[in-house]
Amino acid sequence: MTDFEVHTESGTKRPTQPLPQLEQVELKGMLDWLSAYGADPQGGVTRLLYDQAWCKAQHALAAKMQEKGLAPEFDQSGNLYGTLHSNGRRSGMGEGIEEAPIVTGSHIDTVVHGGKYDGAYGVIAGVLALEYLQKHFGAPKRTLQVVSLCEEEGSRFPFAYWGSRSITGGSGLEDVQHLKDQEGITFAQAIHDAGFGPDSSYRTASHTYGAFIELHIEQGQVLERLGHSIGIVSDIVGQKRFSITVSGEANHAGTTPMAWRKDALAGAAEMITAVRHIALEAGEPLVATVGRITADPGVGNVVASRAVFSLDIRHIRQESIDRCWQHMLQEFSRIAVEQQLGLNWEEHLSVTPIPMNEQITSDIRDICEVEQLSYIYMPSGAGHDSQIFQPACPTAMIFVPSQDGISHNPLEYTAEEDLMKGFQVLVQLLYKYGYGS
Ligand code: HGY
Ligand code: MN
Ligand code: MN
Repeated sequence: MTDFEVHTESGTKRPTQPLPQLEQVELKGMLDWLSAYGADPQGGVTRLLYDQAWCKAQHALAAKMQEKGLAPEFDQSGNLYGTLHSNGRRSGMGEGIEEAPIVTGSHIDTVVHGGKYDGAYGVIAGVLALEYLQKHFGAPKRTLQVVSLCEEEGSRFPFAYWGSRSITGGSGLEDVQHLKDQEGITFAQAIHDAGFGPDSSYRTASHTYGAFIELHIEQGQVLERLGHSIGIVSDIVGQKRFSITVSGEANHAGTTPMAWRKDALAGAAEMITAVRHIALEAGEPLVATVGRITADPGVGNVVASRAVFSLDIRHIRQESIDRCWQHMLQEFSRIAVEQQLGLNWEEHLSVTPIPMNEQITSDIRDICEVEQLSYIYMPSGAGHDSQIFQPACPTAMIFVPSQDGISHNPLEYTAEEDLMKGFQVLVQLLYKYGYGS
């Protein structure tokens, strides 16, 4: 188990803002409302970048933002913003100098058969926080925004964090337009059919944030097991994601002796077993996952000519990720040579581990202490858009507990009172940055 610092600092902290009628905010109701978009008959939610459920959800969210006076606006990637404009009276600012907004939010897309809180919680909480602040405190001194990021998971196309990377300039359409989904639809076709992209009337995605704050479910079991309400994310793991292709020779399942086969699926199976052994040998907190495998021609009486499997490696230290990948590649190569198979790999994602902004995390800590919410500093084993924003602007994450640590699963659940505690911290933080001195 990774060590977690438990802070029980005393000392005087600045009082937080009294929050009238906070309990009347319909957070759970709006989360249930959003989860209907992409609801699976087998339970769970599937909203993939630019698919029908995704389009309906983003446009329905835009309508809700309009109703709540948050001036919705799309960019060319399909990121959706709600804005609470400042009254322009920021002390010490020259006339008309518009500071970059303080932005909160998360992603609207999901994994296949995912839960209804991953991403959606940060989006809905951001919309309701801006509505609440406007209702009770009027226009802020500094513009506040909520963003519904178009894609984080990488569930449809072999590319993740498209929303945040198109905003920070880390990626552009030229990096993704050729990619194909499982049905062979190109990214370029999908973004066009959804009404976005360069030939749409929306502005380009790049945008400067004054700070980014992401409220998110923990997706693990630490907060629940240790009995804390809030996780203050200290750093986010780095990760590498690959497609590994093993090629052999299709042949008759009955007439081809075992020793004479070039069986791509058998080779891939040995490689996948090696992934697990190498990860266990490396020890925590390294994790490595093979979540998908396909085989061609994929029929029972033909020796497989080709097998493709995914590989996801994560750790809070980059050198551990790199060492693990090299060890796995050596093992894959040994197996391929031994069984006369071809071996190719493609790296889809490589994000480094990154610490969150210390000033914002200490502000979150102060709020938790004054509001008497128990908290711990903890690393995030899940990747998040916050790791894309942190190099571009001060960024921090607030976690709330996940029941039984389950996520990326229809059983994903967070109790309403836990959702509201995270919301309370977010509202106090946005108040401090938007209305404070
Ligand atoms: O895979 C992840 O860590 C995140 O949920 N996208
Ligand atoms: Mn996720
Ligand atoms: Mn997420």
